[in-house]
Amino acid sequence: MTDKKPKLVVSTGAGISAESGISTFRDAGGLWEQYPVMDVASADGFERNPALVHRFYNERRVALGNARPNRAHEILHELEKYFDVYVITQNVDDLHERAGSTRVLHLHGELMKMRAVDDPGFIRPLEGYDATTSPDTVVEGHHMRPHIVFFQEAVPMFEPATELAAQADIFVIIGTSLAVYPAAALVRYVRPGVPVYYIDPHPDNAPAGVTVIKATATEGMAELERILLKR
Ligand code: APR
Repeated sequence: MTDKKPKLVVSTGAGISAESGISTFRDAGGLWEQYPVMDVASADGFERNPALVHRFYNERRVALGNARPNRAHEILHELEKYFDVYVITQNVDDLHERAGSTRVLHLHGELMKMRAVDDPGFIRPLEGYDATTSPDTVVEGHHMRPHIVFFQEAVPMFEPATELAAQADIFVIIGTSLAVYPAAALVRYVRPGVPVYYIDPHPDNAPAGVTVIKATATEGMAELERILLKR
């Protein structure tokens, strides 16, 4: 009978991919300083100018092809030796998967997938980081769009994410400004008494009662690994 491993549930944001060279959104020079967010990442924007939205995600997919998982992604994978690790990410990159994490739940969609405009359940992989979509992309009669949750759209994976948070024996938040809901509310579903760690170099929005590790993701994950494995 193998001992049941404690459940380590991790909520990650753009900050965990920053050291892989992927832009965050709200840091100085971030994506929302470079692009009008409501034009490139909202339902209204997609309605107004779908070609612009397709182009925005095509550019981010190419950037992802030039990026590699960093030490923070790798440590998360390595912790699977000692914990049942569940990653809930707001990120649409595939760096957790490329680092070897086996349980990754994407709250805001995935750059490497596309889906039918008329059927959110019709999802297809995009082959290669240079794969592009446009308003003319049609698969089996369906016009396709990036498989991304735009602002003004529901977050269908939030409920399963809350169930994971509610089962956590340890909860970790890494590299998110906790500015966007419902993702930022996940910590509220963690059972009282369960340790919560928040790794971020600017932990301004730290929820009450969490242990803040004021560091980058790679430094913070190295510190967290020392804390957890000493347990
Ligand atoms: N290591 C760890 N965290 C970092 C690093 C780093 N090297 N560099 C920056 N950060 C932190 C910032 O301090 C900030 O708290 O990462 C966070 C990035 O915050 P945002 O840019 O707001 O990204 P995120 O919280 O993931 O945004 C949430 O908003 O635009 C939407 O859908 C988009 O998923 C995204 C959501």
